[in-house]
Amino acid sequence: MHLLHVVGARPNFVKAAPVLRAIKRRGLRQTLVHTGQHYDRNMSDVFFTQLEIPEPDINLEVGSGSHAFQTSEIMRRFEPVVLEHKPDLVLVYGDVNSTVAAALVCAKLVVPVGHVEAGLRSFDRTMPEEVNRIVTDRLSDVLFTPSEDADANLQLEGVPSEKIHRVGNVMIDSLIQLLPAARSCHTNGFPERLALVTLHRPSNVDDSENLRRVLDSLRETSERIEIVFPVHPRTRQRIKEFGLSVPKLHLVDPLPYIEFLALQLRAAVVITDSGGIQEETTYLGVPCLTLRENTERPITVTMGTNILVGEDKNRLTRELHSILDGNGKKGVIPPLWDGHAGDRIAGIVQRF
Ligand code: UD1
Repeated sequence: MHLLHVVGARPNFVKAAPVLRAIKRRGLRQTLVHTGQHYDRNMSDVFFTQLEIPEPDINLEVGSGSHAFQTSEIMRRFEPVVLEHKPDLVLVYGDVNSTVAAALVCAKLVVPVGHVEAGLRSFDRTMPEEVNRIVTDRLSDVLFTPSEDADANLQLEGVPSEKIHRVGNVMIDSLIQLLPAARSCHTNGFPERLALVTLHRPSNVDDSENLRRVLDSLRETSERIEIVFPVHPRTRQRIKEFGLSVPKLHLVDPLPYIEFLALQLRAAVVITDSGGIQEETTYLGVPCLTLRENTERPITVTMGTNILVGEDKNRLTRELHSILDGNGKKGVIPPLWDGHAGDRIAGIVQRF
């Protein structure tokens, strides 16, 4: 059995690490391909080091570009890799452009695909990731899901039950693995009590008015609590381009995984538009306000600490004050978010 993994962007690295480790323990042959979608040191290399992911065997060095450019360029560069290596199964992760591009190449070459984190749906096709999720699931032969809602979505779309395997949340495997390191991590220079912010979705940062409104609301909150904002390169570009001012917010470069986890542990509240952070805060029991109208991870709302505040900045301010007054949402950890999702995937792959 020869397994090939494809990763490209920051959240992929966190999801692939436990699977790579579990497959290695079983002694199966595996090859790691990095598409190069994320290439900055702090968006990529640091994650490989901290998550102890081996050096990629192949880097396609695709870099940035429009969705069509990035997706097609990954396909063009990945096809010869599949033809040369002839894998028995290709594992793709999450919902980024690298995920769908690799799945499409394999489908055309009739090479089986396994999708890790299958079945999540926001039902919002204006989100590029939703398109990536739908297409990838449609093309996949083995679908590894994190939660019951994901199974239900796939069944409604007509995916045969025998293809669906509920394995739990791989991102939480990585979190559990590195929690001791995060607990003892010295985040010197950061305030003791803080609100942690991340923002990178095109719908929040590509529109100048929208971005200005969010930053205004954060500035207002900074009267009550210090705000730490690790800025994604896309967001930094937009802040500069739109000439927005950000006094009183601690803007820092994207942080390594362990340092970011350490800040989440310490945060009174996390404000985000990321997918994975909604899950991490639910696991850690930290109140999370998500700046989106919908989520493909509804379990973080129904069971966890997540609240969708959408684009309503008054609601954001209201919920923030309520949390800072000590009325944060209490949640529970969803089933199978137990640190063993990677092992379950490896077991299924071995029997494939
Ligand atoms: C991608 C994913 C998104 C995920 C996010 C996590 C897709 C469609 N989106 O969005 O789901 O939540 O990663 O971070 O795949 N850039 C750099 N250095 C880098 C990478 C990007 O400077 O290492 C800049 C470039 O200007 C680039 C922009 O960021 O144009 C956006 O990068 P891109 O990979 O297109 O999408 P993300 O916004 O990172």
